[in-house]
Amino acid sequence: MKNIKEVIANSIINSLNINVDYDEIYDKIEVPKDKKNGDFSFPCFSLAKILRNSPINIANDIKNSIKLDSNIKKVEPVNGFLNFYINNEDIISSTLNDIVINKDNYGMQDESKNSKLNIIVEYSSPNIAKPFHLGHFRNTVLGKAIYNLYKKLGYNVISINHLGDWGRQFGLLIEGYRRFSDEYDLSKDPLGVLSDIYVRISKLAKEDENIMNLARENFKKLESGDKELIKMWEFFKDVSLKEYNRIYEILNCHFDSYNGEAFYNDKMDEVIDILDKKGVLIESQGAKVVDVGDDMPPCIVLKSNGSTIYATRDLAAILYRARTYNFDKCIYVTATEQILHFKQIFSVAKHLVDKKYQEGLVHVSYGMVRLKSGKMSTREGNVIYVNDLINEAISKSQEILRNKNSKLENIDLVAKQVGIGALVFNYLKSSKSKDVIFDLDETLRFDGETGPYIQYTYVRTNSILEKLNFNLDKISLDNVNFNILNTNQEIELIKSLEKFKETIKRAAIEYEPAILSRYLIDVATKFSRFYNECNVVNLEDEQLKTARSILVYATGIVIKNGLDILGIECPEKM
Ligand code: ARG
Repeated sequence: MKNIKEVIANSIINSLNINVDYDEIYDKIEVPKDKKNGDFSFPCFSLAKILRNSPINIANDIKNSIKLDSNIKKVEPVNGFLNFYINNEDIISSTLNDIVINKDNYGMQDESKNSKLNIIVEYSSPNIAKPFHLGHFRNTVLGKAIYNLYKKLGYNVISINHLGDWGRQFGLLIEGYRRFSDEYDLSKDPLGVLSDIYVRISKLAKEDENIMNLARENFKKLESGDKELIKMWEFFKDVSLKEYNRIYEILNCHFDSYNGEAFYNDKMDEVIDILDKKGVLIESQGAKVVDVGDDMPPCIVLKSNGSTIYATRDLAAILYRARTYNFDKCIYVTATEQILHFKQIFSVAKHLVDKKYQEGLVHVSYGMVRLKSGKMSTREGNVIYVNDLINEAISKSQEILRNKNSKLENIDLVAKQVGIGALVFNYLKSSKSKDVIFDLDETLRFDGETGPYIQYTYVRTNSILEKLNFNLDKISLDNVNFNILNTNQEIELIKSLEKFKETIKRAAIEYEPAILSRYLIDVATKFSRFYNECNVVNLEDEQLKTARSILVYATGIVIKNGLDILGIECPEKM
């Protein structure tokens, strides 16, 4: 089946008398915002250098020599752009054919070159011995979606959980654990216990200098590999991961590496050494720092007492990841508070790694998360337990589902998919830089811009197809007359289905899953308009019935693919 963009790319290449890379042309073809400028547009600017001519002349030349495929109505050169106008019928039949033939792979025809590019997505990265809070939940959901976007586009993607598992605070925690652990039952909520112990010992340390000294000593011993302390630290890490894994399982997250801060303990000397040899390590009030320009404070690499810090470990991680993964991009997902930190270390990185790696470093930051109100916002000193939130979302969806459809099978599974889907979609529907306020009831609504609404749209396509006894194998696609899909609602829906690939590309480039979420809302809305206006099930006209049933089927495929990328499962019935 022909893809119109491919047709356009090929005709442009054939009209040029020089060798150009197909992808170079294909990737530049865009969809103009204003329909006046055609259905597709190709900017000729990138050809100016090779052809030694102005974009305006190039556009005119191509227009004069191009051989147009029957799918293309006309082409017009405007200010260095070539605007292509397509026959609507062709978009309709090529899009629908493309979707139903490729199904889960719809939109992915030409991604082989991406598989050679290594993309690291570092996300989640909680600080061990502390409960997983709403911010980490947002981080995990966002990181997973970015991971999925790049995966879908065929890149070689590596997921890293850069655990916060090192630093002076562990010396303090060890001290507290020694003193207070007997008072607690660690089998229930171990992370709540550990953070409680930490709060208590921190208070004591403020009053008693001695405790701070012991903590320092503990951490020194830990750094040099003291067996007893390492064992304790490993215990903290194990119980933490056990808790986190429950959430990762629910969100279907798998990490290729859990190398966190501790992993870099023995890899920082080299960083100091390199910076020192390059002469960029300067002394400032006893500390060693690297100057990163006038608009930021210098990056501290060694504190005045000679110890390394968070930033030092991040620098070691950049060096290690460049060598180990030969990354083309290394994407870090964290809250906005760390913007300065990453600006600083990305700047220092130019002294440590080649330009290619330095330029591949990307910080993706997201806004704050709050709960609207309710009991969960206050439990145990403002710590919000993500597990509680998830359980509450699931039990509420169960209630809603039971009221809607008491005969629903697998209600436990569906409630899980809907409850979790609702939470995930709520995070991903607004742009990442915005603060998110959780209002569970709003999040779980079946209408409006929610996860359940999108899932429900998919379920609706399913039940329509069931009523129709739809079976793609029994349809000969070549004989389907798609031209009869000509109402506004049908054309609008098909055009939005056609934008799927552009959408995921843009969402990946901008590290913004919200682009895909908004798109799915748009598809769902257009589907609803179509279904309100156009009969599908009770049609006499078999030709029209078949064409419309394929449109319903294709809509379901696109929605399911999209939700899958966002990390949301889709029930078949609800
Ligand atoms: N552990 C940190 C936190 O919870 C996030 C780590 C981010 N990644 C990094 N390479 N510094 O705030």
